[in-house]
Amino acid sequence: MITKKLLINKESYENSINEAAAILNDGGIVAIPTETVYGLAASAKSDTAIKKVFEAKGRPQDNPLIVHISNMDMLNFVAKDIPEKALDCAKRFWPGPLTMVLPRTDYTAPSVSAGLNSVAVRMPSHKTALDIIEISGLPLAAPSANVSGSPSPTSPFHVENDLNGKIDAIVYDNECAVGVESTVISFCVNPPRLLRPGAVTKEQLLEIIPDLAVDKAVLKEPEKDAKVESPGMKYKHYAPKTSVFLVEGDSDEFIKFVNSEKDCSAICFYEEFNQITVPKLSYGEGENEESLAKGVFSALREIDNLNLEKVYIHAPSKTGIGLAVYNRLLRAAAFRVIKL
Ligand code: TXA
Ligand code: MG
Repeated sequence: MITKKLLINKESYENSINEAAAILNDGGIVAIPTETVYGLAASAKSDTAIKKVFEAKGRPQDNPLIVHISNMDMLNFVAKDIPEKALDCAKRFWPGPLTMVLPRTDYTAPSVSAGLNSVAVRMPSHKTALDIIEISGLPLAAPSANVSGSPSPTSPFHVENDLNGKIDAIVYDNECAVGVESTVISFCVNPPRLLRPGAVTKEQLLEIIPDLAVDKAVLKEPEKDAKVESPGMKYKHYAPKTSVFLVEGDSDEFIKFVNSEKDCSAICFYEEFNQITVPKLSYGEGENEESLAKGVFSALREIDNLNLEKVYIHAPSKTGIGLAVYNRLLRAAAFRVIKL
């Protein structure tokens, strides 16, 4: 298959979004930008289009997809019995990086929900994404546009690297502003539960949902065969070929530790870069968790170019969006944490 390049600039914008919408209406699959990461979109109503998404990504069949909407009418088509608190969250955080798991209607194809009777819904804030949804008139099911298990794509070139030749088109927009996937909360359990941390922080959600629970899998390895609320959390994720170790400690400790190790590389904070003597990349400023979120997936993609056996990554703080970065790195590290 030849993957079409749909460029986004002043002259091509209208043509590109119209073409993306047309392909989606024809049952095709298109990588689109969102504010979090690039998504691989398909009509949420078409079982055959959804099957193509699972196939292109090599995604396990039991891992459900997020449905992307552009207005509140669409929410009422795809979900029912929506609790008041969920509507409060929609008012406060949509459009934006929050996904809510709600009871589903029969509007979307069952394969979207991988057999569950819930549906995950989010209204992205990215203009290109919203315009494509609006013009196509379709709620779009879209997982991250990477090969399953590899780091999520924050630029169209990451998508190209993983999926060129396997999907109908890629929309070439800018790098993603947030850099980690949306926060996921479930309203299908009582009390509502944070399943995946993201840019809408636990602290912000607690203001609306004071009894919000945090799923164990956010910071711990799910036990084998345990029932998990979010199927995505049990799979190996975000892992480069290089063996990843997450390292907790202050800057002095981290620098001293990696400089004394052999055959390794480091992913550090900007401010540590000049003092590290092994091959290294930095992924953001240690004190600025937003910058770490923006840089984390690119760094995980680039580390294999250094061709070393191991990489030690300096862990961020677990507050604000730092919790989301920590959660992704923990999975990239297959839960191997070194505490200095
Ligand atoms: O920011 C994002 O959320 C990006 C962009 C493209 O919107 N999408 C994304 O999709 O990260 P994906 O498929 O990589 O992650 C979806 C997560 C998975 O962990 C999945 O298990 C969970 O959401 N999920 C989806 N539907 C669910 C449901 N009905 N119940 C529980 N978890 C669900
Ligand atoms: Mg993903």
